[in-house]
Order: sequence, then structure tokens, then C-alpha cells
Amino acid sequence: MVETIEDRGRPRELASRAVRTVPQSLATLGGAGHDRLRVPIDELDRVLGGGLVRGSLVLVGGDPGIGKSTLILQAASLLARDQPVVYVSAEESAQQIKLRADRLGIEQENLLVLAETNLEEIIAAVESVEAGVVVIDSIQTVFLDEVTSAAGSVSQVRECTSRLMQWAKPHNVPVFVIGHVTKEGTIAGPRVLEHMVDAVLYLEGDRYHQYRILRAVKNRFGSTDEVGVFEMADTGLREVRNPSEAFLEERSEVASGSVVTVTIEGTRPILVEIQALATPTAFGLPRRSANGLETSRLQLLCAVLQKRVGLSLGAQDIYANVVGGLRVAEPAVDLGVAIAIASSFRDRPVERSTVVVGEIGLSGELRSVNQLDRRLNEAARLGFARVIVPATVGKPHLTASGIEIVRAASAAEAIEAAIP
Ligand code: TYD
Ligand code: MG
Repeated sequence: MVETIEDRGRPRELASRAVRTVPQSLATLGGAGHDRLRVPIDELDRVLGGGLVRGSLVLVGGDPGIGKSTLILQAASLLARDQPVVYVSAEESAQQIKLRADRLGIEQENLLVLAETNLEEIIAAVESVEAGVVVIDSIQTVFLDEVTSAAGSVSQVRECTSRLMQWAKPHNVPVFVIGHVTKEGTIAGPRVLEHMVDAVLYLEGDRYHQYRILRAVKNRFGSTDEVGVFEMADTGLREVRNPSEAFLEERSEVASGSVVTVTIEGTRPILVEIQALATPTAFGLPRRSANGLETSRLQLLCAVLQKRVGLSLGAQDIYANVVGGLRVAEPAVDLGVAIAIASSFRDRPVERSTVVVGEIGLSGELRSVNQLDRRLNEAARLGFARVIVPATVGKPHLTASGIEIVRAASAAEAIEAAIP
């Protein structure tokens, strides 16, 4: 608890107030687009809404070690081709940044590194070199003298961000602010800043897998529908232009418990492999464990399979996994999960060239999903021959030919079609 004392002074008299700001007609306002700096990394540029808006504050959040510094250092070096960029490293020494830059193969005269934690000093230094872009890595390690609490505390993080905001707008300089998300999600992390900044991007993924997804959760200058897909390589983050191919790359030969489904990430359909394993429970309580899916969704699907499809999963441990480290939240992958479980339970593989899409309702019915055509086109593009979809959808206007469409009314029917 922090006690704050506010001096409100005397209440002002409303009537005596002179008019200083006038509302303007929407029709007369200039509609010119924002002045944007193109970031020469397409996957990042797209998530930003087509470039970095001058004077905007972009928060890049993510778990520690996920690759935030790497991604932004790469972006900074490319932006430094056209203007001086200051990379403020409040977390690592300048030598550490240099080591990372060497590893990334970055050599850029205009990329200036500043190892400093005092925000006033940082701003003075940035002004002295007339930086065109500023990176603060990370917001949890910078501080303002006038705030008494420790760096990384909620009030420091909030005051520092607001100070940066006040500076960035009039100077018309975009600022990337990097912030760690703690495992608990909220404490002094980027979450308290979300409402203050112009755009919030999260870099997510599993640090033991190579893929990273950059997702905009807020963007005052663009849509929040776009995601960027990257791959962590030994020379930094590489753009993945063809995520479906990448996610299916390591698909094993026919094995039970695996099926491919199509999820929509932002505006892009992406094919992913779902794996499941059903094994007899050793001790009383059966386990339900999910990776890349909500565990609660997995539990629900197991319950539906038990009651509506008649699979006796009551004494089975069920593990489900989205291959490649992608996290999927949309219900359209329900059918994929259900079929993977059924396939493992019955120990019968799903035919390799089959894709399944559909949401499963509590009575075991298959519900339609949005953007089915786009999903099917993606499946057809990658050479899948057969797709199982909910019967409720009207005949999809499939523009890609050569894919057989099987319609199923229920999860039970779909399972019969997939593993006869
Ligand atoms: P980093 O950008 O330091 O993460 P963050 O700033 O989000 O904490 O990335 C850390 C991880 O990335 C680290 O485990 C090493 C790995 N990495 C690579 O695999 N390849 C590379 O080229 C670089 C620079 C890092
Ligand atoms: Mg870092």
C-alpha cells in the first residue's frame, strides 16, 4: 500500500473559464495517413500495421528469454540504415549487446548503444545524437530519480513510460519499449502499461521450440488481427513466410494419435499437427494434460468423447499437443483434438492426406467455423486430398480444386470418417 497525498487547491469557478480549445468538424480534419517508417522485416512491419508510426510508443512484451532483445536489435540495425538509432540497454552491458550483434551479423555505424538506467540521462543522451528511433531494453530496469520506489515496481514502470510518452510525441520519434511478462502475468509487467502505450506486441512461443509468434494485442494505428511468425535460428530470428509448411515439416510417418487441422492466426490460415496420446491411468485419477491448448478445453472434449461418442476415456490419461509450439485458442481445432484422441485410443492412424476442421458442441454436434474457404484453400495448396468439415456449413465455394470434402454432422460421424 502506498499513501499518496493530493493537493487539490481551491475548486475552480466554472463560469470564469475562457475558451481555449475548440471542437473541430470531422469533415475539415486532414485525413492524411500517419507518417510511418517502414521496418524492413515484413513479419514485424505487418503486425505494426504497415510500419512504425513516428512518435508512437510500442511495447514489446514476452517471457524472459523468448527473443525480444534479439528481434528488436535486428529491427534496430535495419532501421539504422536511414537514421541514427539508439539502443538503450539497461539490462545488459554494451559488450553483451556487441556479442549479440556479432552473432546476428550486425554491423551498423548508425546503431548506437547506450548502457544506462537513469531515464533522464537516457533522454538527454538520445537528444544529443538526434536519434530517429529509440529502443528501451527493458522498461523494468530503467528508473526516474523523482520516483522513490525501486526500478521495476509498478510506479516506476508507469512513470517511466509516461515520461517516454511525453518525450516521444513532441519529438516525433518512435520508441520501442521492451517489457518482461512474469509468469504470474501481471506484477509490474507490461500489463500495467497496456493502456498507456500506442501499440502492444507480444512475442510468444515455447522457448524450447524454434517458432515464435508476434501478436498485436493493441494497436492504435492498425489492426490487431495480424500475427508475425518467426523461427529462432543461431543467427537470430528468421521470418517464416510459409508457416503451414514449417509447422508440418517434421510430421512423422503414419502414426496413430496425429491429425492435421487448420487454424486462423490473424488473417492467415495455418496448418498445424495435433498429437494426442491416450494411455491407461496408473493411479486412480486420470490425467488431462495439454500443450498449446487450453487444458479446460481438452477436459471438455474428453467429456464429450466419453458421453456422446462412447469412447471410454474414464481410465485413460490423455495428453494433447500442438506440434511446433504454437498456441491455439480457437474452437475450430476441437475436431482435430478429438480425432487425435480417438485415433490414439483406438490405435488406428488417420490417413495422412486428411485435414479436419470443426468446433464440437456439448451434445457432440459439429459446429461451423468461420473462414472455411480460406482454410480449405490452404489445405489444398499444401496438397491435402480430403477434408472433414461440419455438415452445417453450406457447400463451401472451393476455389482450389482437387480436394474431397466430407461433411459430418457430429463428432462421432467425423471420427468414423477419419478412422474407419
Ligand atoms: P533474447 O533476445 O535475449 O530474449 P529476451 O530479450 O526476450 O529475454 O533471446 C534469448 C534466447 O535466444 C537465448 O536463449 C538464446 C537465443 N538466441 C538464439 O537462439 N539465436 C540467436 O541468434 C540469439 C541472439 C539468441
Ligand atoms: Mg532481453
